[in-house]
Amino acid sequence: MKKPKHKDTLVTNAGRHPSNNFGVVNPPVYHASTITFATMEALEARDKPPYTGVQYGRTGTPTTFAFEEAISNLHGGHKTVAFPSGLAAISGVLLAFLQMGDHLLMVDTVYGPTRERVCDWLLRRSGVEVTYYDPLVGADIAALIRPETKVVYLESPGSQTFEVQDVPAIAAAARAVGVLSITDNTWSSGYLCQPLALGLDIVVEAATKYVVGHADAMLGTVTVANEEHFQIVKSAANAVGFHAAPDDCYLALRGLRTLSVRLERHQRNALRVAEWLKGRPEVARVMYPPLVDDPGHLIWQRDHSAASGLFGIVLGGGYGKLAVAAMLDGLELFSMGFSWGGYESLVIPTYPARSRTATEWTALGPCLRFHIGLEDPDDLIADLEEGFERLNASV
Ligand SMILES: Cc1ncc(COP(=O)(O)O)c(C=O)c1O
Repeated sequence: MKKPKHKDTLVTNAGRHPSNNFGVVNPPVYHASTITFATMEALEARDKPPYTGVQYGRTGTPTTFAFEEAISNLHGGHKTVAFPSGLAAISGVLLAFLQMGDHLLMVDTVYGPTRERVCDWLLRRSGVEVTYYDPLVGADIAALIRPETKVVYLESPGSQTFEVQDVPAIAAAARAVGVLSITDNTWSSGYLCQPLALGLDIVVEAATKYVVGHADAMLGTVTVANEEHFQIVKSAANAVGFHAAPDDCYLALRGLRTLSVRLERHQRNALRVAEWLKGRPEVARVMYPPLVDDPGHLIWQRDHSAASGLFGIVLGGGYGKLAVAAMLDGLELFSMGFSWGGYESLVIPTYPARSRTATEWTALGPCLRFHIGLEDPDDLIADLEEGFERLNASV
């Protein structure tokens, strides 16, 4: 088959080899711990560290490899390592490349558990120094790089507040001095932005979100651009014993096949709801890069083909916690819960001022994060309209 050129063709075909499986369309699910060897010679000649082949269930089966191949193809990457969750992929890749005495530059608007659990606990107690930087730093990141800096980590748009980073500028500054650049690309899910093509070295994603797409499985991926990085990431995954479950890899592969059509609808619905929210008197600001007046719009447009359905809003200053609870508790179509990227709409309150240290959060009102699902946006808007009535009645 000729190499597919377009992303829609890629998500349809990547990782599928029916001719290897009796013509079955989808890769089969291999459940395995023990892999048996016919002879002692074969046993002793089995795959060697970092154990990339089928040699023990923990290090992967053909189902895992099909999923990894598909994600690599989507990113135009060399290889991918699957992890049991997005956070496992994040801690795995950082543990792989950092050790005692190293310095990490971490974006201030990173996903909360990456900051609190991986950086401020796991890495700091392992002797890694962490400096948080302003997401809008751009090429000035160069001034923060020290001789012991090993990794610059990005996440764009940022968690909760959706600042858009100048990825090519940061990637170029890091590469110029031999510092590894890694990004969390979960918002774009491999489909809307290809960070390796923008100059970054490694892409981490929580496939739990849009790739799985149905709120029923957890997976993470680390995609690298060369064999050296693959060996390091796979060795770290093997050392810690991370294992991506075969049923979850299967669900992620199935989700992948509809990723493009789902994302198109997520964006269409999210834009409708975001535009409507912009016109509401209760809303001080909508934080969604595809909106033309968003501060990150132009950079977002340059680096992304489209948007996903996750964004934030800042409410006006006069609303307290009880009023927000009255609004959210009564919503019928928006559930409250963590994660996002499934077919259903979600909302949570967020607290950006609590976690950042390199930048100050000055907005006065409470913040909400919305994930806009595949429901009819008119129904979502009607639900929110009633929510605003409860908000106003509770002030
Ligand atoms: C941006 C981002 N990265 C990583 C993760 C972690 O993924 P997982 O929930 O699969 O561990 C999340 C989860 O919400 C996230 O929002």
